[in-house]
Amino acid sequence: MPARVAHRGYSTVAPENTLPAFHAAVRAGATVVEFDVRATRDGVPVVIHDRTVNRTTNGRGRVWDLTYDEVAALDAGSWFGPGFTGLRVPSLAETLDLLAPEPVDLLVEIKPPATLDEVKSIVAQLAERDLLGRTVLQSFDADVVRKVRDVAPDARRGLLLFRFDAETVELARELGVAYCNPSVDDVLNGPETMAALAAAGIGVMPWTPNDIAQWRPLVDAGVAGLITDLVGELTGWAGA
Ligand code: G3P
Ligand code: CA
Repeated sequence: MPARVAHRGYSTVAPENTLPAFHAAVRAGATVVEFDVRATRDGVPVVIHDRTVNRTTNGRGRVWDLTYDEVAALDAGSWFGPGFTGLRVPSLAETLDLLAPEPVDLLVEIKPPATLDEVKSIVAQLAERDLLGRTVLQSFDADVVRKVRDVAPDARRGLLLFRFDAETVELARELGVAYCNPSVDDVLNGPETMAALAAAGIGVMPWTPNDIAQWRPLVDAGVAGLITDLVGELTGWAGA
């Protein structure tokens, strides 16, 4: 069976990219936990998906315009439901401390813009906890993947794709990625995507198959992992 990748944690049962979502993912049988990293104005890596804090917190503004203290003071749970009031946007350090003792690998998406120093800081935090061997660092932005390659040549890397095209395999080779992760539609509607990446020895973990009917054709196509909001359901399905 492919890896069961919890997208932003088990993000249908707890607010995405929060410590309870990561706890829930582990409890629900995820083999990999995916989350998104950005840096605050003062250079602290925090775990949040959007460019702004507007959707998933009670604050306003772009993450890189706010200090860590300002981000850490926000409520990142109320938007999801009353039972989650008071949750915070976790720092990368808090997230890694939570997940390090757990039997899961990490899929760390670095959102652009990310400076070389920010990439160094992310890699250093993983290395400090001896997590690099359990981690794939990925980004939609080839320049960010290039920075990861330059900072940590031995780290496993992934290139996220909005659309597979004729240049993809060459770019993936240049970046030395272990994974190219296209959209689920690219894999299901374009058999050449899987064929070309498999021929290049590159693994594929499509995002974000949240329709259970998509899982069988993806497994049959040979994907290395399913990045889904429904990781508990995937665990049950995989065990059936
Ligand atoms: O890991 C793949 C997936 O997370 C990419 O999309 O927008 O959810 O970060 P997004
Ligand atoms: Ca992501």
